Amino acid sequence: MIKYVSNKGGGEAVRFDKAILDGFASDGGLYVPEMLPKLSMQTLKDWKNLSFKDLSFEILSLFIDRDLVSSNELKKIINTAYGTFQKEQAVHIQKLKSRKETYILELFHGPTLSFKDIGQSLLVTLFDFFLKRLDKSCSIIVATTGDTGPAAASFVAGKSSLDAWLLYPKGLISDEQERQMTTLPYNNIHPFGVYNCPNGGDDLDEVIGKLYSNKIFKEKVNLSSINSINWGRIMAQTVHYFYAYFQLADSVGEKIDMAVPSGGFGNLCAGGFARKMGLPLNTLVIANNKNDSLNRVFTRGLISKHEIYETVSSAIDIIIPYNFWRYLYFCNGQNADEIKKWSDEYENNGFFQFNKSTFELYKKGFLSSSVSDDQTIKLIKETYKKDNYVLDPHGAVSLAAVDLLKDKLSNNKMICFATAHPAKFSKVIKSALSVKELPKAATHPSIEKAKKMPQKGYTCDCKYLEKSLLSVMESNWDQKQKVI
Ligand SMILES: Cc1ncc(COP(=O)(O)O)c(C=O)c1O
Repeated sequence: MIKYVSNKGGGEAVRFDKAILDGFASDGGLYVPEMLPKLSMQTLKDWKNLSFKDLSFEILSLFIDRDLVSSNELKKIINTAYGTFQKEQAVHIQKLKSRKETYILELFHGPTLSFKDIGQSLLVTLFDFFLKRLDKSCSIIVATTGDTGPAAASFVAGKSSLDAWLLYPKGLISDEQERQMTTLPYNNIHPFGVYNCPNGGDDLDEVIGKLYSNKIFKEKVNLSSINSINWGRIMAQTVHYFYAYFQLADSVGEKIDMAVPSGGFGNLCAGGFARKMGLPLNTLVIANNKNDSLNRVFTRGLISKHEIYETVSSAIDIIIPYNFWRYLYFCNGQNADEIKKWSDEYENNGFFQFNKSTFELYKKGFLSSSVSDDQTIKLIKETYKKDNYVLDPHGAVSLAAVDLLKDKLSNNKMICFATAHPAKFSKVIKSALSVKELPKAATHPSIEKAKKMPQKGYTCDCKYLEKSLLSVMESNWDQKQKVI
């Protein structure tokens, strides 16, 4: 039986359905599987030519017991989750002609045009599946730096088992991202634009933490989260590492490098797990913007909070790389007591310095860099000119990080992750390309449509957010129960 435990060691071991529906473990830690499966070379070879959905089925089956979700049910869940993607294979790989062995992994072919669609589509479908089985409904709360919210809204919209509360720092996400949340005509979608967030999305996570620790409220509205604290997101995100590897490796065993624009370390945590499971990835490049928390973790062994900077790659304006603790758990011999001690110290003091041996253990296989806005803009411009390809600002950060690290990287094939469609960042693209009209490749019909729709949602000062949410979520819940 596959069990999930808290990376901080508290509470009981639980099964997959509970880990998914709870979001956080009961001690506030993050759920991790008791063991990461180890794949043989033969299994990897057998998987090389699988479609994205078939590969998802094989990988997810390693983490979900059949008596909880049968083979047929899991296949149906995967088909539902990825059925709305514009590409049959969910993701797409594009070679950059002007560079040697450099490929872009486009992760933005889901309905809301960012990589968040991949984890969110699967997670929401799983939520709906388990809640219907229990004949329950649930309030979901999500803090977003611009992409998690739209993805959550798109998949939750119209589902009777779920209500989604989407908190975003008003003015700090793009207009396009805001409209993806505020133009959905469904009464179970509740966007919440929050102003006065000096620490951006991290301030919102803090409020969510407080709501979680309010036991009476949590139980009353059946509160859960589909942020990347949820194991389901990480599990789903491992698949695109395997898929991209298999597409590009001439034979299984070839070493390949990948570069990932990073903030909360959710995407890279999945990549690190894929490698620990046996995928022959050589270097994983951590691409930070000026908000370089992860860069400090991986170059100095220091995890620390600092002021947030507004950048052109706003979705990674994140200071707290919370999924790093999940990865660390599998580097320190699954010593949950240490994770608890260290993460508590970080929470209390605002920083924690890892000892040398721990630092050496976790940084193995990673390189990191912090990319400036000028470098990001330069890369958008240069790639358009040389390759006739429009990178979004986050994809540009991954490519820029590779350039900065070129002396440390070997000559393996390099896959840079483009985590969002450029149409979500029209202002940045127009300014980078010095154009008034966007090139067609940087537009998208769904974004154009949203421009013409009326917007709805709450706005609130961060100071009053907790109180406002308590009142409005509770009254929405009461109202809903009356209707049922
Ligand atoms: C476009 C985009 N790229 C990258 C990231 C960073 O992902 P992670 O937080 O998993 O590191 C995010 C969101 O946080 C995002 O929206």
